[in-house]
Amino acid sequence: IRAMTTYCLLCLALVLTGAVEAASSPDNSKLLTVLNSSLPTVELLLHIGVVAAESAPLSTTVSPRSLESIIRAEVNGSWERGRLVLQLASQARTLELKHAIYEALWQELQQTKQIYDPFKLMDFYEELARLGNVPATLMMEVYQVFVSRSAQLLSAPFHTPTRNARFPLLVAFFQRLTLSTLDYLRDILNALYDAVLTLESTLSVVQRLGNFSGASLTQLTVANLQLSQREELKSDNAAVQAALESNLRQLLEQPNFQQDVEHSWRQQLYTKLPNDERLLYTAQKVCLRNVTNDNAYIYECPQTYLICTNARDPKKAAYYVQRGHGRNNNVQFAFYSSYWRNRYILHEPSNQTAPNAIKKNIYSRDAIDWWYVVPVAGGVALYDNSSLYLLCGGDTQHWDGEEKHVYSRNAADLYTHRNECVWSIEDCSDVA
Ligand SMILES: *[C@@H]1O[C@H](CO)[C@@H](O)[C@H](O)[C@H]1NC(C)=O
Ligand SMILES: *[C@@H]1O[C@H](CO)[C@@H](O)[C@H](O)[C@H]1NC(C)=O
Ligand SMILES: *[C@@H]1O[C@H](CO)[C@@H](O)[C@H](O)[C@H]1NC(C)=O
Ligand SMILES: *[C@@H]1O[C@H](CO)[C@@H](O)[C@H](O)[C@H]1NC(C)=O
Ligand SMILES: *[C@@H]1O[C@H](CO)[C@@H](O)[C@H](O)[C@H]1NC(C)=O
Ligand SMILES: *[C@@H]1O[C@H](CO)[C@@H](O)[C@H](O)[C@H]1NC(C)=O
Repeated sequence: IRAMTTYCLLCLALVLTGAVEAASSPDNSKLLTVLNSSLPTVELLLHIGVVAAESAPLSTTVSPRSLESIIRAEVNGSWERGRLVLQLASQARTLELKHAIYEALWQELQQTKQIYDPFKLMDFYEELARLGNVPATLMMEVYQVFVSRSAQLLSAPFHTPTRNARFPLLVAFFQRLTLSTLDYLRDILNALYDAVLTLESTLSVVQRLGNFSGASLTQLTVANLQLSQREELKSDNAAVQAALESNLRQLLEQPNFQQDVEHSWRQQLYTKLPNDERLLYTAQKVCLRNVTNDNAYIYECPQTYLICTNARDPKKAAYYVQRGHGRNNNVQFAFYSSYWRNRYILHEPSNQTAPNAIKKNIYSRDAIDWWYVVPVAGGVALYDNSSLYLLCGGDTQHWDGEEKHVYSRNAADLYTHRNECVWSIEDCSDVA
């Protein structure tokens, strides 16, 4: 048996060399014969060390070595040849032999510099996964090395002083990751955040993630959501929350966001937005009302086609929300009411520029009109399509009996007439 074992190991070594040299040649028959050997494999493996130590009877140039050293010599620091050994191992007849080859191969690959390359590790891991018969502990070990090397690569942008540094390798890496399950990304991000949140400030980490480029919208959504769930972000640090919301808005502003990102991820992202803003994405219908007066809702005036602040009446105040993209891709909203014969809340263009001036040019009209809804402390501000004007109301001087008109003000008046120009958004989806 020992002689035969030695002989077979030699064959394996020689044939592997041959196979490697003729990598593309289908003629692996000698190797297959060896791997198909009917030798009791356990015996074979048990004796590898002994054989290597004891026997020097064969007068060949190649001396017997352990399976590991045979494979190591074959691979000799070449990741490519490692992959070939892996393919050949799949031909081994017994599971024990296969396992021994995988283990030995992994030992050798870890000695190579390529072990720092997450691309290579991902490929190797996926090849092992395809084989399906690799011991779970080995799979786990390879996976963990893959995850930690990947996290190391992704950490680069988090440690740079500039926010606009470019990392072409990251672009390629994210691209490669799109071909795999999101589980990889989740595990890599966990390792990444463990490391960067230890070394950098939470705010800086959130900001750097906001400047990440090259990742897909889904990857960025997952990355931001996962970061938002970290213990480190649970504190009430306003700057950190604002930075996170800014990251999320950047995603919402991508014209392909709705199309590219799966429904459940989108819903999770919306839950991270401030209440008013969230409703614009999640509610079927919304009502717009005065922040401080819960009986002042906007909808058509009693007598004219102007818009007024009126008494609470959800049926009349409920508006469907339509989303679009305006300048710089910023998300815009249009509000139309089925109760008011599908008319929209419309700002008629004007050249009004005098400071503190108001204009009664907010109508209920058939034509669509787009608004920017910007979160401000306490609620939201509604800017017209030009962003030069705000929707404001509540100053009785501009009312006319029952007609409590809303009006437009210059955008700059937000700071001096804040209480007139900040609105609250309510969920009015339930309204029939
Ligand atoms: C492996 O051995 C079996 C029987 O021992 C034989 O039928 C089969 O053809 C062999 N396979 C290869 C690839 O040599
Ligand atoms: C291993 O590779 C090194 C450098 O690439 C080479 O010098 C050496 O001869 C190789 N060893 C074997 C056994 O092929
Ligand atoms: C980084 O992000 C900030 C905030 O979103 C943005 O103002 C800045 O332009 C970004 N820089 C680059 C280079 O993308
Ligand atoms: C605004 O001014 C421009 C030129 O100054 C004029 O052509 C335009 O008709 C004006 N628009 C309105 C709504 O008054
Ligand atoms: C909104 O503004 C953009 C650019 O400022 C313009 O192209 C577009 O026609 C405007 N839309 C409406 C409905 O006025
Ligand atoms: C809300 O109501 C208060 C008091 O009635 C008023 O001063 C304020 O201008 C109103 N704001 C809006 C946006 O209607």
